[in-house]
Amino acid sequence: MSVQAEEHLLEKLRKTIQVRDKISVKSSKINSKLEKYVHLIITEILAKFGQDRYLDMTYTILKELSINAVKANQKRIFFEELNLDITNEESYQEGIVKFKSSFSDTMAEEYGQKCQDKGIYCQLNFYYAKEGMYVEVINNTPVIKLEELRMREKMKKAMGYNDIAEFYMDNMDNTEGAGLGIALIMILMKNENIDPALFRIITKPDKTVARIEIPFTSDYVTLRDRGAGHITDGN
Ligand SMILES: Nc1ncnc2c1ncn2[C@@H]1O[C@H](COP(=O)(O)OP(=O)(O)OP(=O)(O)O)[C@@H](O)[C@H]1O
Ligand SMILES: [Mg+2]
Repeated sequence: MSVQAEEHLLEKLRKTIQVRDKISVKSSKINSKLEKYVHLIITEILAKFGQDRYLDMTYTILKELSINAVKANQKRIFFEELNLDITNEESYQEGIVKFKSSFSDTMAEEYGQKCQDKGIYCQLNFYYAKEGMYVEVINNTPVIKLEELRMREKMKKAMGYNDIAEFYMDNMDNTEGAGLGIALIMILMKNENIDPALFRIITKPDKTVARIEIPFTSDYVTLRDRGAGHITDGN
């Protein structure tokens, strides 16, 4: 992106964030353009409410969640191409080993394109007000039982840790990635004195929504208290 185009984008983003209480971004692949865009959005939102201290934490969390979302999407295409049934436990084990060992930057780009062609994406929805913000990271492919189990187990285990190195020592798991993303998210929240229960993963028949809430003031009302598990349709 040229410096001029970047400044133009920044200005446009700033205006949008100043006047609206929601902004979304959608992508089928993770690249530096998306990372930069997400970083800009968080920076502007937090600056608007004088909450810059949450920048590093929020960015790290959203990056982790976006990678999980995009990976889950690309995994499905990979299985389809190998004619492996992702919902079958045996084929899943077989496919996941191949997926993990063959993954590279080039492949991420290639599979990102394939997802885009098929309308498979990851969407980040940011909602913000002076009391707090929440972000949904959605990927529009159905989750499978095994993944759901893995996510739930990570969340449960992470509750008992305040240190990511300790979590790693006790729970080595290189089945898919390093197996640290979800635990890292919850530990980062705890370190900022944010209730880790404000990180939730909601699975729907056609999509997975990972959601994080960041209260800015004691007036923040959690989504649960506002009327249970409200999830937007991602549009
Ligand atoms: N959006 C998602 N859709 C489907 N499955 C998911 C999603 N996010 C996470 N998972 C499942 O949860 C598992 C744990 O996720 P986590 O981020 O903790 O570790 P990882 O992605 O395997 O490794 P790392 O984040 O350290 O690279 C993943 O391996 C995957 O099976
Ligand atoms: Mg991960």
